[in-house]
Amino acid sequence: MPSRIAGTGSYLPARVLTNAELAARVGSSDEWIRTRTGICQRHIAADAETTSDLAVHAARRALDAAGIAPADVDLIIVATTTPDMIFPSTACIVQAKLGAAGGPAFDVQAVCSGFVYALTIADRMVADGLARNALVIGAEIYSRILDWNDRGTCVLFGDGAGAVVLVPSDTPGVLATKLHADGSHRDILCVPGQVHNGRVTGTPFLHMDGGAVFKFAVKVLADVAEESLAACHMDASAIDWLIPHQANIRIMDATAKRLGLGAERVIVTVDRHGNTSAASIPLALDTAVRDGRIQRGQHVMLLGVGGGFTWGSVFLRWL
Ligand code: UT7
Repeated sequence: MPSRIAGTGSYLPARVLTNAELAARVGSSDEWIRTRTGICQRHIAADAETTSDLAVHAARRALDAAGIAPADVDLIIVATTTPDMIFPSTACIVQAKLGAAGGPAFDVQAVCSGFVYALTIADRMVADGLARNALVIGAEIYSRILDWNDRGTCVLFGDGAGAVVLVPSDTPGVLATKLHADGSHRDILCVPGQVHNGRVTGTPFLHMDGGAVFKFAVKVLADVAEESLAACHMDASAIDWLIPHQANIRIMDATAKRLGLGAERVIVTVDRHGNTSAASIPLALDTAVRDGRIQRGQHVMLLGVGGGFTWGSVFLRWL
């Protein structure tokens, strides 16, 4: 049976870190950050907050919007690169906090493409009758894997979570999905550290070749959107709302331009959220659903790209 999104939710930690405040610390400027990235501020989790806490807030809001009780959730997938711990999965921790025991719960690690990967898996599981009330969450606390002395990376990221509830539907809501990865580019965006005999070896901080990431993202995002459109025998003019991964406004603008879409059709939250990795797409989706921009019957294209390298698209009809 096809699936559709029945509700969305999101959560941002209370603490807002503005460019001005950050720039003074790292030798940057509000002007540099805004013009190069489109970012004006980001949210930072409190010391006591965990990724699963952020995820649970977003999940509860999505469940409320869908009118589904936590006890009726029968699948939880959390896309995250910043799990609470090495194991168990953040999804199992979320399941316990929600009181939704019984169904499968697992994490997906596809970095900033994690949400489109997770949504694709959930769609197939609903389609195969393996789940009826699936919770798909993107949640991240990147502030804990950043080197706050590296102005080339620490200004880019933020913390947050977004969630959707996926249910079976007579009419398809998820129209097409396409996923890709190319591990030969694994070094241009990574956290290469590992836990080894009780110690962290290698660097536990995010490392990025910003220019290489930029070029790669612009190249693949429009192509993978075209792949999902082709599967539906549609072209880019069918897209009412484009929700690319919120990494950098220049990457988003370039992608929209390659698809022939005006800036007015792109949902932008990177200015307020920064890059929240796997959380960025569901955060932007929830923002545009709740402010009324996304309307029933419209077509929405979600585009993810991130470390690995991974990339993918999910094309939706909003029902
Ligand atoms: O989820 C995917 C995550 N990653 C991304 O989306 C990143 C994609 N890449 C980018 O967004 C851009 O490459 C950046 C925003 C990271 C960098 O922009 P850029 O236009 O490629 O700048 P650049 O790296 O070529 O650096 C230009 C200059 C350098 O100084 P010099 O060598 O020209 O003197 C940097 O040292 O800007 C300097 N710089 C900064 N200056 C002020 C780098 N970071 C900063 C900073 N503030 N925060």
